[in-house]
Amino acid sequence: MKGMNQDIVVEGKARIAVPKAAGGKISSAMPVFYNPVMKSNRDITVLLLAAAAKAYGVEKWRIADPMAATGVRGVRTLLELGRGSIEVLRMNDYSAAAVALIKKNLRLNKIKTGKKVAVGQNEANKFLLNNGMFSYIDIDPFGYPGAFLDTAVRRLRHNGVLAVTATDTSALAGSSPTACRRKYLSVPLRNGFMHETGLRIMVRLAQLFGLVHEKALIPVFSYYKEHYVRTFLVCKASTARCSDVISQHEELHYCSGCCNKKISENGKLMCGSCGKQMEKAGPLWVGRLFDANLAKKMAIEAVKNNYVDEKTKAFLKVTAEEAKWEGKCGVGFYAIEDICGRHKIGQQPRTAEVIRKLRQKGYAASPTHCSTTGVKTNAPVKEVVAAAKSL
Ligand SMILES: C[S@@+](CC[C@H](N)C(=O)[O-])C[C@H]1O[C@@H](n2cnc3c(N)ncnc32)[C@H](O)[C@@H]1O
Ligand SMILES: [Zn+2]
Repeated sequence: MKGMNQDIVVEGKARIAVPKAAGGKISSAMPVFYNPVMKSNRDITVLLLAAAAKAYGVEKWRIADPMAATGVRGVRTLLELGRGSIEVLRMNDYSAAAVALIKKNLRLNKIKTGKKVAVGQNEANKFLLNNGMFSYIDIDPFGYPGAFLDTAVRRLRHNGVLAVTATDTSALAGSSPTACRRKYLSVPLRNGFMHETGLRIMVRLAQLFGLVHEKALIPVFSYYKEHYVRTFLVCKASTARCSDVISQHEELHYCSGCCNKKISENGKLMCGSCGKQMEKAGPLWVGRLFDANLAKKMAIEAVKNNYVDEKTKAFLKVTAEEAKWEGKCGVGFYAIEDICGRHKIGQQPRTAEVIRKLRQKGYAASPTHCSTTGVKTNAPVKEVVAAAKSL
């Protein structure tokens, strides 16, 4: 750490020493990685752990943070959940500079290492294999998470939560389809809802590793934000639940002619609305992205929490609304700009108005956190076009 210029930042309840970014540029080349934009990611993590403890009956978390960088996530979790909610917190990074900084940050926040809190310097997989079982594991690498999923699943308890972040959105959202096929064993699709598609592709990959170990990984909070996708999955060591997961790996078909979409097991489909050959993405997870009760609790707690900024509170309000409706609305959404473009509608109507109109007609409809101009609904495309035209 000698020679590393540092700043002290306040994030949540923590004071954290972080390296000064050269020229203000956040990159993996920083001596130790810290991205202030990811504060909302860490806010959401702490809110989720607090809500999940109550919802899933976790008395005390056994937490693994195998790629801890500055340690900000672990320190915040300990300070904000409270020591009493945590049985064990293990932080790790393979970088010596990171480990030195994690230790400094623990001291800065008056957290002693010992039985409860410990820091390791190891390769993440080795660290996971050597530290027992956990009820929460946070996989937060640079880019692709696939290399860590097998060990994470092995070390995850029944009813435990696995968090997975992927920042290689060029593969997941379809600008590098070959990379997606190679790394995620799936085909992406570049369209108005490409980020939801990418998120579902990433969820399936994590689930495949779960299935290898007869652990069903059920998404309880999954989202796309800024430059990344992230999912929290609850582990059920149950072969019946595994079969249930497999039955929800399907393909998503999309018509670029009229914006129609359809879920189907496989094969090529012709659009039932305009007759054009549909494009397809997947296989991907077509089940729920959220546990609606959990998402609601998180949104409510966020509002009471002074550390959570207004943008994140607004984001969690949308995810709670989306979670409430997703069971009826299904997979993907209609991008209103695409509907207007394909169907020659001059004035793009407001999202809330399209939702209101569809609900008036008796359809389920909700916003999506993936886009401010997206509408999730069970209405067929022609009804969405009619709603947009009428406004
Ligand atoms: C994106 S950063 C983690 C950020 C951190 N979780 C946070 O919230 O600020 C990724 C970190 O993982 C570490 N890392 C990458 N690959 C690793 C591996 N195979 N084993 C251990 N650490 C690794 C890097 O040194 C870096 O500190
Ligand atoms: Zn069509």
